[in-house]
Amino acid sequence: MATIVVPAGHPAALVRSAAGLEPARAVAAGCTACDLYARATQTVFGEGRHDAPLMLVGEQPGDREDLAGRPFVGPAGAMLDKALDEAGIDREKVFVTNVVKHFKWRPSGKRRLHERPTAAEIRACRPWLDIEREIVRPDLLVALGATAAQAIIGRDFRITERRGEVLPPVDGGPKLLATFHPSAILRARTPEDRERMLAALIADLTTAADVIAR
Ligand code: URA
Repeated sequence: MATIVVPAGHPAALVRSAAGLEPARAVAAGCTACDLYARATQTVFGEGRHDAPLMLVGEQPGDREDLAGRPFVGPAGAMLDKALDEAGIDREKVFVTNVVKHFKWRPSGKRRLHERPTAAEIRACRPWLDIEREIVRPDLLVALGATAAQAIIGRDFRITERRGEVLPPVDGGPKLLATFHPSAILRARTPEDRERMLAALIADLTTAADVIAR
């Protein structure tokens, strides 16, 4: 993988990836590289095996993840677990994380509604994802949804055009694949759309299982 570039003064500069995930998680817990930390409960660092062959990357923690301090444990996580199960992938063998590690939200009555992170917030959080990738060194990275896909593969990437394709490694990194975000399936407008999108997510994760089995 290409050398990680950590901006001067970024908390991730204190981390040596050779030390492993736990020291990185501990430093990330105090990250103030963008303003999102101020309204979030905690940093939600990735979790899973330090040598997982498959890394799944979502957008940012949701309300439940913010409270639990763990990625994909709310409704989107339940949808992801269902799709992983159907694809024959044991979540224990996967490293799960997000491009942004603090929950960005706005109040709506008593609820906290998800807000999409800005390009600057995604950039500020990038060193943490790079450190996770450097430590875990997965064979395949699956981007869940457009925000993750564009942050990782490139701003011009369109899920609608290239969903489910196994893309070659860049700079010695893992192979890449982008698919629907489980939350997009939960938000589908009709039961038919929901079925179609879930089937696509399962098909893409089945492709992922084949890639890591090779
Ligand atoms: N959505 C995400 O992108 N990540 C989570 O961890 C939960 C919901």
